[in-house]
Amino acid sequence: MSDDVLLRATDIVKSYSSRTKNLGQRTPNRAVNGVSLDIRRGETLGIVGESGCGKSTLARCIVQLLPVTSGSVQFNGVELTGLSRRQLRPHRRQMQLVFQDPYASLNPRRTVGDIVGDPMRINRVASHDDINDRVRDLFVTVGLDPNSLRRYPHEFSGGQRQRIGIARSLSLNPSLVVADEPVSALDVSVQAQVLNLMADLQERFNLTYLFIAHDLGVVRHVSDRVGVMYLGEIVELGDAEALYDTPLHPYTEALLSVVPELNDTDAPRRERILISGDVPDPSDRPSGCSFHPRCPVATEICTTQKPEFVELRPGRMVACHHPRNLDAAPLTVPPPTPPVA
Ligand SMILES: Nc1ncnc2c1ncn2[C@@H]1O[C@H](COP(=O)(O)OP(=O)(O)O)[C@@H](O)[C@H]1O
Ligand code: SF4
Ligand SMILES: [Mg+2]
Repeated sequence: MSDDVLLRATDIVKSYSSRTKNLGQRTPNRAVNGVSLDIRRGETLGIVGESGCGKSTLARCIVQLLPVTSGSVQFNGVELTGLSRRQLRPHRRQMQLVFQDPYASLNPRRTVGDIVGDPMRINRVASHDDINDRVRDLFVTVGLDPNSLRRYPHEFSGGQRQRIGIARSLSLNPSLVVADEPVSALDVSVQAQVLNLMADLQERFNLTYLFIAHDLGVVRHVSDRVGVMYLGEIVELGDAEALYDTPLHPYTEALLSVVPELNDTDAPRRERILISGDVPDPSDRPSGCSFHPRCPVATEICTTQKPEFVELRPGRMVACHHPRNLDAAPLTVPPPTPPVA
């Protein structure tokens, strides 16, 4: 594993057992069905997909809040699956999760100062006084008034609560922050402020982000690379700009065609592609390509053969028998922009 890879997930599967509707039998529901990805040091990897496609499950498996059913998670070159809780502890400190719902994720009966200091107390990393000083510093860092430490979560707005959640996630100096739809529950006017804060913190503390969203518009602004998830699988992964310019997977293409802000430019308008039907139940996965019942360009082979996830263009992975826009997708990776002198 090269040094620039902070976390490598290989073929992660996570099954929940769920009762089938009619027989009362338990059938495995593969919420994550064989995901492989690398998260590179210092980057933001965005993950997008419709609700229920397995994003939160993947996030929890990556930070080891949920045990994987099978597969591997290597962090800084260390295999994490199969470690005991005690063995995991030093690695878990390096990986923190920011939750979607800042109303639900903060304990309403604890003061916000205690909430932000708890990870340090639980991990016994500092003395009582040092923790209090650090909590004050963290409040300033995320743009909150350090005199409000003794207040309770309900006394803050949604955006402020998400700042509290972010302060808590930073308290142990993590290297990886997994943000699970961090702005989805916030008003649009507040979303940009929280995204800007996260960008500033990334630069300041050298953070690596896995940034999850259901909205391609949000992910575009913050991501270096983007992975598109469908029914527990990554179906396309690549450089963010390239993926938005020339989506290779029909699902990515359809998702992009309905993002208003991406089509609100002078560029030729993308044709709006409507995907019919709902996301299928993961316990009743379609044969062949999971997307075939909803795919506008599916053919016979799609119903029987699962497409391999392969690199069709440099840095562009896709799982599809009939990839789109291949003629327009560049055959070489553009050289990095030279630093301005
Ligand atoms: N604790 C659980 N027990 C059983 N099924 C679950 C559980 N959590 C999630 N699921 C199922 O796993 C699938 C993926 O859910 P989730 O990871 O929450 O998706 P997303 O975050 O993309 O909305 C869904 O079908 C959901 O119903
Ligand atoms: S493999 Fe077939 S069904 Fe699946 S996305 Fe590609 S064209 Fe559509
Ligand atoms: Mg979720």
